[in-house]
Amino acid sequence: MASVLQKLITPLFTGTPEPPRNKVTVVGVGQVGMACAVSILLRELADELALVDVVEDKLKGEMMDLQHGSLFLKTPKIVADKDYSVTANSRIVVVTAGVRQQEGESRLNLVQRNVNIFKHIIPQIVRYSPDCIIIVVSNPVDVLTYVTWKLSGLPKHRVIGSGTNLDSARFRFLMADKLGIHSSSFNGWILGEHGDTSGEEFKNRYLIQEIICLSSYLALFCGCKVTNLFFNVQVM
Ligand SMILES: NC(=O)c1ccc[n+]([C@@H]2O[C@H](COP(=O)([O-])OP(=O)(O)OC[C@H]3O[C@@H](n4cnc5c(N)ncnc54)[C@H](O)[C@@H]3O)[C@@H](O)[C@H]2O)c1
Repeated sequence: MASVLQKLITPLFTGTPEPPRNKVTVVGVGQVGMACAVSILLRELADELALVDVVEDKLKGEMMDLQHGSLFLKTPKIVADKDYSVTANSRIVVVTAGVRQQEGESRLNLVQRNVNIFKHIIPQIVRYSPDCIIIVVSNPVDVLTYVTWKLSGLPKHRVIGSGTNLDSARFRFLMADKLGIHSSSFNGWILGEHGDTSGEEFKNRYLIQEIICLSSYLALFCGCKVTNLFFNVQVM
């Protein structure tokens, strides 16, 4: 006898479903990871979003929160798991996992702790998505991007660090604010590392550091600038 489901819905296609074309994975569902996830969803950049973290309760909660918002989103599938098989066939993997800086701690101090975490994460990503592009956000980002390249064995054009995108966006805002124009009307880049020495000259002159410390929207802003990188990497 036909079940209620079978009576209500007639399947039009019974073959094996095709793998996603534009799957994106975010590893680490902390403040920055979730900002990236929300930005990916709002900008409709993925047909499937996968989340991975080591803290299972939090991971499940964040996944459910996004799934419950699906009425307002266009990404049909949002999945999460501790196991990396959930990331299979990703086109882009954003890595935001790791420990973050304590007050007064330099980004470089984090390096050994985060390298150990990356030794577990990166081989798993490549195992399930050998053709992906990895975007590294965790700090110290420049060092960890190099570590990711080495651990992954991927060609260098498929391992990208978020670099000084954040610093540059701040710089453009601050300069534009001084000139009384919108950030998009002011062009400029902060060169060098994303770290305590980035934009040293400008920090000294315009007290950018103080303003950065007051900013409570770091994570959201970070998510927006990471997804902006997608437009550069999609054409590779
Ligand atoms: N590149 C940039 O411009 C930029 C900007 C802001 C923050 N960051 C960096 O991003 C990282 C994340 O920052 P945050 O504020 O979201 O920190 P957070 O502490 O809120 O989140 C980190 C997440 O990583 C998870 N995690 C830890 N070990 C893991 C593992 N082995 N596998 C999977 N997940 C794991 C934690 O459970 C946590 O959910 C930090 O390293 C921070 O310094 C970079």
